[in-house]
Amino acid sequence: MTAAYDDFAGAYTAENETSLMNAYYERPATLALVGDAAGRRILDAGCGSGPLFAALRDKGAVVSGFDQSAAMVAHAKARLGADADLRVADLTDPLPYPDAEFDDVVASLVLHYLRDWDPVLAEFRRVLKPGGRLIASVNHPMMINLTHRHEGPRPDYFEQYTWTDEFELHGEKARMTFWNKPLHAMTDAFTAAGFRIAVVSEPHPVPEAQELFPGDFEILDTFPSFLFFVLEAG
Ligand SMILES: C[S@@+](CC[C@H](N)C(=O)[O-])C[C@H]1O[C@@H](n2cnc3c(N)ncnc32)[C@H](O)[C@@H]1O
Repeated sequence: MTAAYDDFAGAYTAENETSLMNAYYERPATLALVGDAAGRRILDAGCGSGPLFAALRDKGAVVSGFDQSAAMVAHAKARLGADADLRVADLTDPLPYPDAEFDDVVASLVLHYLRDWDPVLAEFRRVLKPGGRLIASVNHPMMINLTHRHEGPRPDYFEQYTWTDEFELHGEKARMTFWNKPLHAMTDAFTAAGFRIAVVSEPHPVPEAQELFPGDFEILDTFPSFLFFVLEAG
């Protein structure tokens, strides 16, 4: 089965590089939550074309990454070089890493593609050292209310359902299908998997984005799109 991202890997990679949502909001927020990465062993789960992997490596971390999409991993290899530890692997399968290998797992904008988080979180916990951290960002459960506030029936916050959105990525149309989960379903899954919730974060885009993205900045600055967690493996 080909991953959806195989169909628009080049467009997504280009978009992610400079977009308000990724370059000026999601990535700086995740890097701030990771903090001092020097010497840390980090797994970038759903690494895409590797922008976060690159930033963490630049900060002195020893990073491994994997993604379901072979095309995204090919872009990551082009960015990171032949020596980078990159694999094509699926989050819903057992992960190809030993037990207690990592200080941190970062999972940026990837869990919201999955209905059942339990086996995935169990695998994250297995590959983390005791006391290691899972740093995850997902669609904010209120995001759909922003996207759909003028169309169709009002969505039920408490329901778990898929919704599909169409984006323009670097001039190319792309459709993505997400699982909507209420906040308590996420936190219940984290605690059931043995994680302690250390931080729940609703950051703002970085201030320098205001001049670059007039209009869109104001929307994002007053209504969160993503939700960020730092979770500690017990
Ligand atoms: C929104 S992109 C984020 C990429 C990267 N984390 C970043 O922030 O730049 C989501 C990525 O998750 C990957 N993905 C989706 N479902 C996956 C799965 N089941 N296993 C592994 N990767 C998956 C996609 O192929 C895509 O590269």
